[in-house]
Amino acid sequence: MILIIRHSQYAIPRGKTLYKIGVLPGDGTGPEVIREALKVLQVASEVENFNYELVHYDFGGDRYLKTGEILPESAFDEFRKLDAILFGAIGHPDVKPGILEKGVLLRIRFELDQYINLRPVKLYPGVYTPIKGKGPNEIDFVVVRENTEGLYVGAGGFLKKGTPDEVAVQESINTRKGVERCIRYAFNYTKERNKENKLTLCGKTNVLTYAFDLWERAFYEVAREYPGITTNYAHVDAICMWFIKNPEWFDVIVTDNMFGDIITDLGAMIQGGMGIAAGGNINPEGVSMFEPIGGSAPKYTGMNIINPLAAISAAQLMLEHLGEQKAGKRIEQAVMKVTAEKIKSLAAGQMGYSTSEIGDMVADLVREG
Ligand code: IPM
Ligand code: MN
Repeated sequence: MILIIRHSQYAIPRGKTLYKIGVLPGDGTGPEVIREALKVLQVASEVENFNYELVHYDFGGDRYLKTGEILPESAFDEFRKLDAILFGAIGHPDVKPGILEKGVLLRIRFELDQYINLRPVKLYPGVYTPIKGKGPNEIDFVVVRENTEGLYVGAGGFLKKGTPDEVAVQESINTRKGVERCIRYAFNYTKERNKENKLTLCGKTNVLTYAFDLWERAFYEVAREYPGITTNYAHVDAICMWFIKNPEWFDVIVTDNMFGDIITDLGAMIQGGMGIAAGGNINPEGVSMFEPIGGSAPKYTGMNIINPLAAISAAQLMLEHLGEQKAGKRIEQAVMKVTAEKIKSLAAGQMGYSTSEIGDMVADLVREG
């Protein structure tokens, strides 16, 4: 059984787009932050005049503990009919790590072929960054992470498990098709962003001489189709160094699944932490899912002290993806006003406001424009 609550905000004028949005609040603080994101979404729809319908799903740790069900096949038939999904967080203290992450989050990414994980790293005004001497002008880049291949496919196995001769193999799968479509997306994205028109490939060609040989060849072949984009290459370890030392060098970065996972946590830290970092799991030809990347934060659950800005920003990314650029811009402007003028810290419990107060504040600012 899937819990579905449908509600359209208004009578839909004929010919007007109606977005069908799936909502998966998930575990821990997921529901609290998603509530605020939906509050902001509603106001944005009123001022920018678009319509949507929400379909709520209760997948996550509690449901799994109650029913043993993680994500039934039938859910995907429903997901495929949606225009987008807004996702809260996954991870439950009573469920062994890995089960929900693999069974919900990664499964959706794979089944819906969301082959791009788009993660903007942008320092908003008033936000503390641990990088001395760097501000919003220096920290503003985007990571395009491949999201369906690499080490995440789960290829590998054990040999002689539990014995002193045990062998564990974990394989990184990189297909020409998968790598090329990700790289092509990154070039297009860089062109549309039109900031510095610079795309950096992040890899490890000096050690991973098969996987990143393929990535590098595909990168420079696709680059020929984009003469207006400056290209360069950096090893992943060097990227970590430069995120700290010279973040202003980056415009858009494209990389594989594992490196993208790691460098975007570093990116999140320099943009002010998990309270603000949002991302999109994108299938440009299918159904995409947007999420705050911070996780379920069980220890803050139900306290109304978690920062909802990342979830609100995820809703912003979702609207931009759906083509509601003006609504997205409004939300971003509102979030930036809150970081610049209101919120004391982005950390849970230190914001100077509650979760719902921050949501109200952003919603009011979206309304006032
Ligand atoms: C992320 C997370 C996930 C990942 C986990 C929860 C499986 O860390 O979205 O970055 O590794 O992709
Ligand atoms: Mn991660």
